[in-house]
Amino acid sequence: MIKAIRGTRDLLPPDTALWNFVESIARQVFREYNFQEIRTPIFEATELFARGVGEDTDIVSKEMYTFEDRSRAESEKGQSLTLRPENTAGVVRAYIEHKMWERPGVQKLFYIGPQFRRERPQKGRYRQFYQIGAEVIGPTTAGSESPARDAEVLEMLATLLDRLGIQGWTLQLNSVGCSEDRPVYLEALREALKPVVGQMCFDCQRRAETNPLRVLDCKVPEDQPIIEKLPRMKDYLNESCREHFQQVQDILKAAGVPYVLNDRLVRGLDYYTRTAFEFTHGALGAQNAILGGGRYDGLSEAIGGPKAPGIGFAIGEDRLVLSLEESAEAVVSKPDAYIAPLGPGMNAEAVKLARELRQNSVIIEVGDETFRLKKSLETASKIGACFAIILGENEAKSNAFALKNLATGQQETVPRAELAGRIRKI
Ligand code: HAM
Repeated sequence: MIKAIRGTRDLLPPDTALWNFVESIARQVFREYNFQEIRTPIFEATELFARGVGEDTDIVSKEMYTFEDRSRAESEKGQSLTLRPENTAGVVRAYIEHKMWERPGVQKLFYIGPQFRRERPQKGRYRQFYQIGAEVIGPTTAGSESPARDAEVLEMLATLLDRLGIQGWTLQLNSVGCSEDRPVYLEALREALKPVVGQMCFDCQRRAETNPLRVLDCKVPEDQPIIEKLPRMKDYLNESCREHFQQVQDILKAAGVPYVLNDRLVRGLDYYTRTAFEFTHGALGAQNAILGGGRYDGLSEAIGGPKAPGIGFAIGEDRLVLSLEESAEAVVSKPDAYIAPLGPGMNAEAVKLARELRQNSVIIEVGDETFRLKKSLETASKIGACFAIILGENEAKSNAFALKNLATGQQETVPRAELAGRIRKI
């Protein structure tokens, strides 16, 4: 038997109703905050992620699905392509390619779609997973660098999670500095690590070489007392980064968005500057980040574009669905009525009636003229229809139908013209 690939999964009904529920609320919130949708390709040039996300990140160094595309001519080398592991780099590429800075104001863009990372699969971690994300990007003159942008994005996320009925989330906030103050901090961190790194876990020893900031992310219990004593970015922020971070917090306080400061929050992508954040949820276990994001003021330049500061986030939709209180049963739309055609020639009548009712926004499921009435009524109940409409030769002729309420068992004869109104009343 051919099965779905490890780390990928089929989303089946009724669960897909939950996914649609989440996406429709997200779209509604994006509309209220004046975000517009962008759709970028699922695969991009490998170089985009190497330069955008960073060669030394886990994502680029070991998790990408990369392949060589066949060349068009024998003599040409194929191009290296990668299934997108995230979508910020793609959006910024599109911003540059289409000179979107020529449009008025800052660009407020959202996307919903699959991403691919070759991680070890476990609950809440998949190789094909889905993100709902957004980016705010533009020239500095349009206000893209302002702490008000950061605060608006964070406040929107709090609104979205509340709107979805997700309780018990925590916004973890940090500032990871900028291209000016971070090198100074990294130097201090490297120095502090030198005498102690030998006592740390293997991953930390590797990270100390390649990406020392990630040492702060280590979860190994034995390493924690050492990490606690390492220098922190907050003590190295320059005046403007410190002021920026303070203003983000002041606006969040004014808007009533709760947050906790976490000076060990460093994120797994290299493009972040200043504000970095995650929303976590207790019920998710080890993979507890429902979403992550931050500011990326140098990303556009890193991939060949003009200065275009930005901030954004991506929600792990798989994890968001896992943390919903709502059950799939509660949001799935059940049929309002099941039409039971009885006897030869009644399939055509059933289609006609179904068409009329559906045009009146009634959700209809249709049986088959070969079914006995008992079978039709049983099926109607099993699929959760509220009513059964019995359609035999007499009913078709008289244009009045037996309407059976499947919850109460009550049956009445209803003229064709009143049918939709009567069904929708329930
Ligand atoms: P990220 O933190 O790598 O950030 O991913 C965002 C979210 O995607 C995570 O918090 C998690 O919920 C979900 N996620 C990541 N990997 C997996 C996986 N293997 N399985 C299931 N869910 C996963 C980014 O991707 C950035 N592009 C976010 C961003 C946008 N920053 C600025 N703008």
